[in-house]
Amino acid sequence: MVDLGVKIGNLDLKNPVMTASGTFGYGLEFEDFFDLNRLGGFVVKGTTLHARQGNPYPRSAETPSGMLNAVGLQNRGVKYFAEYIYPKLEKFQTNVLVNVSGSTVEEYVECAEVINELEHIPGIELNISCPNVKEGGMTFGTSCPSAEAVVREVRKVYDKHLMVKLSPNVTSIEEIARAVENVGADSVSLINTLLAMAIDAESRKPLLSTITGGLSGPAVKPVALRMVWQVAQAVKIPIVGMGGIMNAADAVEFMLAGASAIQVGTAGFVDPLAPVKIVEGIEDYLKRHKIESVTDLVGSL
Ligand SMILES: Cc1cc2nc3c(=O)[nH]c(=O)nc-3n(C[C@H](O)[C@H](O)[C@H](O)COP(=O)(O)O)c2cc1C
Repeated sequence: MVDLGVKIGNLDLKNPVMTASGTFGYGLEFEDFFDLNRLGGFVVKGTTLHARQGNPYPRSAETPSGMLNAVGLQNRGVKYFAEYIYPKLEKFQTNVLVNVSGSTVEEYVECAEVINELEHIPGIELNISCPNVKEGGMTFGTSCPSAEAVVREVRKVYDKHLMVKLSPNVTSIEEIARAVENVGADSVSLINTLLAMAIDAESRKPLLSTITGGLSGPAVKPVALRMVWQVAQAVKIPIVGMGGIMNAADAVEFMLAGASAIQVGTAGFVDPLAPVKIVEGIEDYLKRHKIESVTDLVGSL
């Protein structure tokens, strides 16, 4: 028997595999494919104080070894979430985290306050790294003072696990990680998508309505691994790694680089069963290598 359990601060995960926000809806959409309780947790789609329509279509495109998206945080707002979606999520015996975004610090704070009241949501993932919205989003995550300001204010009203999702679109991701650790983040998750673009030579037009968007999938994995490793040297709080994790070997690599847990995003579009296959694959890896606990992998490069 191998032990797949991990602790991310005060969060207990039965295994290190979560799904990434924006790629897994509210989880409910995947119930026909597998038992969601087999995951360590799942992060529901980006939620904001007020409803958002998102960006005009086309807002996703395939690129070599990855995809571009510019969904732009389409959602019906946190009150709708609390009233209509949350009651359907209460039944799950796993960690359901809500990914929170805003255009202003006040919006982040008000959104976090609403979620703080939801008993079966043990944590939020604060998205200060969305590259696809005009106001707020990534701008909060690209400078230490603004990242600190939003995390400090949310920390004042939010009692449970506060995971902060970092942007790769910065000069030094370690500095931002250290800044949010200093003002009360319980963990950091990284990476969000990399700012990118794609053009169709025949039509001479960009593939996305927004021209630029966020790149995810296997193409970003080496960048994400480098950043997880760098952040692991810089902070003491746990790291949740993601970016191009398609299989168990990818997940193990992130843990060797210093991630305590991982998230699976784009892989789920290729194979909806990818997250559970990764749980099984990690278990198999531990058995083959005679490693008793998955936590022994963390940072053991
Ligand atoms: C279609 C799509 C929508 C996304 N929406 C969000 C979001 O709402 N909030 C967020 O923090 N990240 C969002 N992301 C980023 C992912 O959660 C993840 O950080 C990124 O895709 C890298 O992981 P991957 O390569 O495994 O997909 C989105 C990604 C995709 C592809």
